[in-house]
Amino acid sequence: MAQLAAQIQSQDEEFRRRLGRLLRSGPIPTSVVDEIREGAPADLVIIDIRFEVSSAMANIERLRATSPNVGIFAIAAVADPDLILQSMRAGANEFFTWPPADETFHGAVRRLTARRETTQGAKPTSTTFVFFGAKGGAGTTTVAVNCGVEVARLTKRSTVILDLKPGLGEVGLFLGVRPRYTIVDALDNLHRLDREFLRELVTKHKSGLEILAGSDNFDRPGAADSGVIEELFRLVSKQYDYMLIDAGSQINSCAVAALYSADRIFLIANPDVPSVRNAQRLLERIRELGASGDRVRLLLNRAVEPLPVPRKQIENALGHPVHHMFPSDYKTVSNALNSGVPLTMAGNSDMAAQFDHFTRQLIDPSFTAAPAEPAKKGLLGFEKIASLW
Ligand SMILES: Nc1ncnc2c1ncn2[C@@H]1O[C@H](COP(=O)(O)OP(=O)(O)O)[C@@H](O)[C@H]1O
Ligand SMILES: [Mg+2]
Repeated sequence: MAQLAAQIQSQDEEFRRRLGRLLRSGPIPTSVVDEIREGAPADLVIIDIRFEVSSAMANIERLRATSPNVGIFAIAAVADPDLILQSMRAGANEFFTWPPADETFHGAVRRLTARRETTQGAKPTSTTFVFFGAKGGAGTTTVAVNCGVEVARLTKRSTVILDLKPGLGEVGLFLGVRPRYTIVDALDNLHRLDREFLRELVTKHKSGLEILAGSDNFDRPGAADSGVIEELFRLVSKQYDYMLIDAGSQINSCAVAALYSADRIFLIANPDVPSVRNAQRLLERIRELGASGDRVRLLLNRAVEPLPVPRKQIENALGHPVHHMFPSDYKTVSNALNSGVPLTMAGNSDMAAQFDHFTRQLIDPSFTAAPAEPAKKGLLGFEKIASLW
């Protein structure tokens, strides 16, 4: 999940924009919150002390008195020794001059996170995996759902999957469950979204995976929800060890919020030209957004050797290694889909073996057992098409 919730206090639009970007591009997934909700205080408050020094100092003091554990970063116009001393005495943890250098700032965020982790009573943070498709039909929901089932089954830890798709989400369908409530009910009741209420909203699958289903409303979640969806991710992830998000294949405001909240972003592509070209654009966009590129893992779905576009060519075009390849097996995948039984619970297919291996590696990066090789099928000979992008 977003490990930190940060608030930026400044009247200056450029300051808020730049700091927001700096926070998003750092190594620690951070959500930027506009206002602090009761019961969900910010972990980090960044205060602009360039103009109204005395009121800014009073603000820091007040904040420190009410929230002893919050990280406070002060940003001044100049590195004046008196001002540094004054801000530290008021309770700031870090002092920067405007504009802060990226590396120095990220270092301070890292220190803050490390301090929070060792602080007594600091809750272990949950892990968020976001699944994003290079194009519709690439297999995003298939991968997200089967991975969710495996995470719940293998870890026996609390695991939830959120379906962002507006208008008849498919995660519930893939798992053969009939959800009574959807993500829209959660969005409309954020103020009372505690463990008890959330338990009412989710549907439980027999693997242990809990589902916050996609809505049947074609406009939601949509642009109007973009202000609160990040808060939803934060509140839900507080209640689970693992949160997975099926973010679809459109870069819209809700998908962007999911990307910001991710510890790992899985970009699902097929080894064909349209998919690779879209993946290229999406990776550029993800980098532009400042959602740190090193959180992205590229997955190739429906990968039958020899690939229509060779793996090396895909990796060169995208500037990203292929993290995992899932074979193509329409019969097994569609049987699973139509019966609502996930692949790994439906028998010993090659697909099931791939999901098992992929998920074991996900939850324990030191896991290295050799994966089952994706099945080798017919040669399609599309290599020359790769020159099109
Ligand atoms: N590895 C695969 N082999 C064969 N068919 C697949 C595979 N992955 C997905 N499919 C099929 O492709 C279609 C689209 O999958 P889906 O997961 O809904 O894609 P998305 O969520 O990206 O739109 C479904 O009919 C699904 O059964
Ligand atoms: Mg889908």
